Amino acid sequence: MTQSLTIARPDDWHLHLRDGAMLQAVLPESARHFARAIIMPNLVPPVVTHADAAAYHQRILAALPADQSFDPLMVLYLTEETDPEDVAAAHASGLVKAVKLYPAGATTNSASGVQDFDKVRGVLEKMAEIGLPLCVHGEVTNSDIDIFDREAVFIDRVLDPIRRATPGLRVVMEHITTKDGVDYVKANDSDLGATITTHHLIINRNHILAGGIKPHYYCLPVAKRESHRLALRAAATSGDARFFLGTDSAPHIDPLKENACGCAGCFTATNTMALLAHVFEEEGALDQLEKFASRNGPGFYGLPVNTETLTLTKSDQPTQFPEKIASGDGPVTVFDPGFPVYWDVA
Ligand code: NCD
Ligand code: ZN
Repeated sequence: MTQSLTIARPDDWHLHLRDGAMLQAVLPESARHFARAIIMPNLVPPVVTHADAAAYHQRILAALPADQSFDPLMVLYLTEETDPEDVAAAHASGLVKAVKLYPAGATTNSASGVQDFDKVRGVLEKMAEIGLPLCVHGEVTNSDIDIFDREAVFIDRVLDPIRRATPGLRVVMEHITTKDGVDYVKANDSDLGATITTHHLIINRNHILAGGIKPHYYCLPVAKRESHRLALRAAATSGDARFFLGTDSAPHIDPLKENACGCAGCFTATNTMALLAHVFEEEGALDQLEKFASRNGPGFYGLPVNTETLTLTKSDQPTQFPEKIASGDGPVTVFDPGFPVYWDVA
């Protein structure tokens, strides 16, 4: 028996598209299902200025296959040199929808991130004034803080002080991985939202480390223990308008993942919607999938919900997802949930 679910076309509120040959390879994987995405600016060099964002936007549109529609929502990478007036102009032009805060050294290509938060105070105040959201990679980078504690410590030491010092600043905690993140969002008002990835609803840290190390499950923030995964599932399926999908689909070629010092990032663009249908069905919450993937994100960003739709169908045969996507730079492994999935996009 075929079961089907039609929802408003989803958006991805946290996506890495890269550039050049990799952009060419991965963009169609997202554009096939998603209407829009918040495009992460951690290129080398990063997308820092309005002009950088305009040029990257052009390169994304140039790489888009003619038969696909996709609206890249551009993001500026916050540095200690960022000019508040450039940010305001980028927002006023309609091109830029958020600014991204990476603590220096927190993750892939974050060397230009912020070390001294006082140096970005002027930018944050300008953003609060004009209503431009700040997306934060919520991990401290201190070597004395255990990697599994870095999100919780970031909330106390960095995020809460920034929010208190900048009233009216709208903040998205990106890719939350802990119950602490869920609880912090729930304890605050609608100026604070959070994205949740597909893979953090599926794996905990045992999946990465037990029975042999699985490099394709390694991402940042790293998956935590099972109780945190369950808290993320409860938040994502709750319908609460402050939680929405950001896949953090982050392609790296296999030689850089299967490596003595492997890169962080899970590539989930290809099968995210099918995996989410599986997860939401397991939670008895298929009726909440549209809010998580298609409604809550536009609500937070003040954008209209897409008028097109996406239909998911469930069959009695497991869906065969491609194991890898080929790119001009090399193969990229598609996230494997480790169990059969019967859903697919129709
Ligand atoms: C991202 C990447 O590869 O750019 N990696 C990841 O593990 N998520 C960076 C990021 O979002 O932290
Ligand atoms: Zn990311």
